Amino acid sequence: MLISVEEEASMITEKSGAAAMIPDETPLFDPQLLEDIDWSQNMVSFSPSISPELPGEGLVLRPLCTADINRGYYKVLGQLTKVGDVTAEDFIKTFEHMKKTENYYVIVVEDLNLGQIVATATLIIENKFIHGCAKRGRIEEVVVSDQCRGKQLGKLLLSVLTLLSKKLNCYKVTLECKPKNVAFYEKFGYVASDETYMQCRFFE
Ligand SMILES: CC(C)(COP(=O)(O)OP(=O)(O)OC[C@H]1O[C@@H](n2cnc3c(N)ncnc32)[C@H](O)[C@@H]1OP(=O)(O)O)[C@@H](O)C(=O)NCCC(=O)NCCS
Repeated sequence: MLISVEEEASMITEKSGAAAMIPDETPLFDPQLLEDIDWSQNMVSFSPSISPELPGEGLVLRPLCTADINRGYYKVLGQLTKVGDVTAEDFIKTFEHMKKTENYYVIVVEDLNLGQIVATATLIIENKFIHGCAKRGRIEEVVVSDQCRGKQLGKLLLSVLTLLSKKLNCYKVTLECKPKNVAFYEKFGYVASDETYMQCRFFE
């Protein structure tokens, strides 16, 4: 049986799994979820007016995809914390795991003119046995590139993920933040809890 070069290449990549290791535009979750958010329930004001569909001139808000590793996604995260040495393979494997669980909602704002990610935030959904097998949301890794701060993108990300957690039927959504950022999160209805955040750190 004769097979074409393309078929042979596809058989090799299927066998080795290499096809999955090429960054691409597949979204982490269904983008329709963002379109379905009821923006009228948003708690903060935007002046000038922006929204998930229209985040600003030349900007788009969407789910993370693996191609974002080549659009400076880590450069933005690096303005929040240590990101470590991550290969494209590590990134794609983690992305695939997150996608499979359907509990990770990483959103990004891309500047289409620059082809660069300028802001990101993550919502993680935890399934519980308590509260009638309810879901709880956690917001993590909220960061806007220092060149784009003060353009309401932080507010937009927080509003979107807070509304998304409600839409996904979470009974609550929580986050941890530095004292200097408390006032920022209070805008969205978050209140400081009387519980103490504790941690046992194994490595940086
Ligand atoms: C905190 C952060 C996400 C805010 O993003 P941003 O895009 O610059 O903020 P926005 O333009 O959306 O902010 C708009 C509003 O929040 C206020 N605000 C911004 N940062 C604030 C802060 N740290 N504390 C209190 N208010 C803040 C602004 O004054 C503005 O108020 P207004 O709407 O009443 O005019 C951004 O500064 C950032 O990435 N910081 C570094 C990383 C970080 O600290 N992340 C949070 C981890 S908990």
